[in-house]
Order: sequence, then C-alpha cells, then structure tokens
Amino acid sequence: MVVETVIVAIWAMLPAYIPNNVAVLAGGGRPIDNGMTLGDGKRFLGDGKTWRGTAFGTVAGVAVALALNQIHPFVSGVVAADPFPIAAAVSLAFGAMLGDILASFLKRRTGRERGAAFPGIDQLDFVVVSLALTAIVATGWFFETFTLFVLVAVFVLTPVLHVSTNAIAYALGLKDEPW
Ligand code: CTP
Ligand code: MG
Repeated sequence: MVVETVIVAIWAMLPAYIPNNVAVLAGGGRPIDNGMTLGDGKRFLGDGKTWRGTAFGTVAGVAVALALNQIHPFVSGVVAADPFPIAAAVSLAFGAMLGDILASFLKRRTGRERGAAFPGIDQLDFVVVSLALTAIVATGWFFETFTLFVLVAVFVLTPVLHVSTNAIAYALGLKDEPW
C-alpha cells in the first residue's frame, strides 16, 4: 500500500522533478526579465532565470512524460497510474519551471539575492504550481492519479529528493549552492 503510493508519487512527479535540474545544466544567456528592476531597486527575477534554462527544462520534462508513457505498458502492474495526457505532461513540466520563477520573484521582493536560500519555498514552489496547473488543465487524470495518499507522499518525499539531488549537483560542481 505504502510502496504503491510512493511509486505513483514519484512516477507522476518525474516530469516535474526533471525540469529544474535540466535548467541548471542548460541555463544561461538572456535572462527572462531582460535585466529589468522594479521600484524596490531589485531585479524582477534575476540572472538565474533564463529563457534557455526554462525552454530546455520544460521540453525535458515533457520528454520524460512521453518516455514514461512508452514504458507504461510494461510496468502497469506496478505503477497504479494512467499514462500522462499531453496536457498533464506540459503542465507538470512547465508548472515546475513557473513555480521556480515565481519563487525567484518572491525572493527578490523579500531582498534575497540570486542564489539565496528560501527554506520551504525552494523545496515546494515547483510542486505546488505544477500540481495546481495540472489540476486545471488535466482535471480527470489529476484526481485519478493524485489521491490524498499520493499527495501526502509527494509533499513528504519532494523536499527529501530536492535536498539530496541539489547536494549531489553541488558536490559535482554543477550547482553554485547546495540548495
Ligand atoms: N536556470 C535557468 N532558468 C531557469 C531556472 C534555472 O537558466 N528558469 C539556471 C540558472 O543558470 C540558475 C541555475 O539554473 O543560476 C540554478 O537555478 P536556481 O537555483 O533556481 O537559480 P538561482 O541562480 O539560485 O537564482 P534564484 O535566487 O533566483 O533562485
Ligand atoms: Mg538557487
């Protein structure tokens, strides 16, 4: 029961977990905010949110969902989830990037410089927005897949996975900070 729940949680969230990691690898170039600052003298988003990182991250997340759909027939006995509708693939991937972007907006407004930690927000921003967007654009699949137990598993597991993957990326020299 617990194992099935955890498997669905990780499987269904993989298209949302991948984008931020790919953005770290692919990021660079023109920032989304084009260098713009707001009235508070701080950047709108900052140099850490780029078009390239966002585009590659989103495409990678969608590609993961499509790849999981290919594997699905072989593991459907183990993974109690229906294949990703294309709308869900896009909303999970893009929602993850959007959540991270919104968090940067909040970081700048609260005086946090690029790269500063924002405990709690850093670990869950992308989960909340990718799930909310998916609930809107792929409602049937969302409620079918994300039962209450699965949601609890997602909110417990994600911070753990987030902290550990970022620590690994930092140790490998891929990321500037360990969060
Ligand atoms: N990145 C990107 N585009 C995004 C998200 C991330 O290009 N939409 C890349 C950037 O090179 C960024 C790195 O991934 O520096 C790490 O991402 P993140 O930790 O989210 O950004 P920070 O640089 O820490 O900036 P912020 O404080 O705004 O979160
Ligand atoms: Mg950061």
